Amino acid sequence: MADSPSDTFLEIEQDHERLQETLLLHQDAMVRRDLPAARRYWDEFCEELRDHMQIEDEILIPEFARLAGSPNGCSPEILNAEHRKIERLIERSEVRLLAHEASGTLEPRQVVLHIEEERTLKEVLDHHHTREGTAFFPVLDALLSQDQRRRLLERCRKLLVD
Ligand SMILES: [Fe+2]
Ligand SMILES: [Fe+2]
Repeated sequence: MADSPSDTFLEIEQDHERLQETLLLHQDAMVRRDLPAARRYWDEFCEELRDHMQIEDEILIPEFARLAGSPNGCSPEILNAEHRKIERLIERSEVRLLAHEASGTLEPRQVVLHIEEERTLKEVLDHHHTREGTAFFPVLDALLSQDQRRRLLERCRKLLVD
């Protein structure tokens, strides 16, 4: 029987595009100087990103470490280090957003600075997603049987519900 799309880690990888889009919606709102919308999209982005990284940290990276070692310049240590860097960058953006909210004003040049400072976050995310898309999710897909993949994906979904 052919694998159904739900039996591959593409399901988790698809989060990456959604995350990128939500971050852009946050930045669109910043450009409109609509702080409540910028906050709403930012919170959505952070929550989804933290859930996504939790699945990878607690379930998929340990499995990858057990199976694969370090193929194609991708290792559990690199992935973990990138996750911690992403967490530091979102914390920095959070502090800046809180400062805008506390001041109650948002001048055009503050918007420019805010978006410029989020550039590093976007670059690190982009790089990280490329690494996961080429040497992490496809490797997990290739090294696990359909049954193993299905069981792991069930654990991933359950983690988010609990
Ligand atoms: Fe990741
Ligand atoms: Fe990811």
